[in-house]
Amino acid sequence: MKKLIAVSGSPRRNGNTAELLRHAMRGAEDAGAETELVQLYGLKFTGCLSCFYCKRKDVPHGVCALKDDLAPVLQRVKEADALIMGAPIYFMNLSAGMLAFIERLFFSNYIYSEKIPTVFPKPLPHAFFYTMNMTEAHVEQFGMREKLGVYEGSAARLLRAPTESLYAYNTYQFSDYSKYESSIFNEAEKAAYRKEVFPKQCEEAYNIGKALV
Ligand SMILES: Cc1cc2nc3c(=O)[nH]c(=O)nc-3n(C[C@H](O)[C@H](O)[C@H](O)COP(=O)(O)O)c2cc1C
Repeated sequence: MKKLIAVSGSPRRNGNTAELLRHAMRGAEDAGAETELVQLYGLKFTGCLSCFYCKRKDVPHGVCALKDDLAPVLQRVKEADALIMGAPIYFMNLSAGMLAFIERLFFSNYIYSEKIPTVFPKPLPHAFFYTMNMTEAHVEQFGMREKLGVYEGSAARLLRAPTESLYAYNTYQFSDYSKYESSIFNEAEKAAYRKEVFPKQCEEAYNIGKALV
């Protein structure tokens, strides 16, 4: 049976990112695969510590030497048939948790070789899901596709498969906007967007999950 691993880089276990990932998992399950959700913010781990163990000539390549909560996750990703990396956008970038995950997964499978672009053992179909307050117009205005495209390019090269991406704009952030200072947002407009557009993005997530396996 095929397996899809969904990795959430949001500290909110039931936020927008996790919700999209759960739809993708349902899609993969409907296609006959098993799924696993990894919530990075429940784990104790760091980003790459630049020890260069993974670049040594006297040990097998593709292994991160750090023995923390992420080590078994990296091993399971290597054995999986599909991967989705979901992250909220924090300060115009992937969340710190997702960046740390990517450093560990990507750098350990990259060696400084002219001839070998990656030591990842097999093509791994994969996708990025991004959730953010920004609207689609902001994403274009701030060049987010180019910025996030850098991670997508690395993923395609290192995981040996094309990268899918899903942008969920204008997310509904608070359960009750009246309790928080949020005057830069129009709550009614956000609520309408959540009601009308977010379900379509969940459907897109479902289809990506289904297609990946
Ligand atoms: C620390 C922090 C920084 C954020 N920075 C941005 C940002 O730069 N651009 C943006 O569009 N949204 C930003 N947001 C909003 C989140 O990306 C957005 O609410 C996201 O959908 C949250 O995902 P979640 O519901 O899965 O936690 C930020 C939120 C937090 C907590």
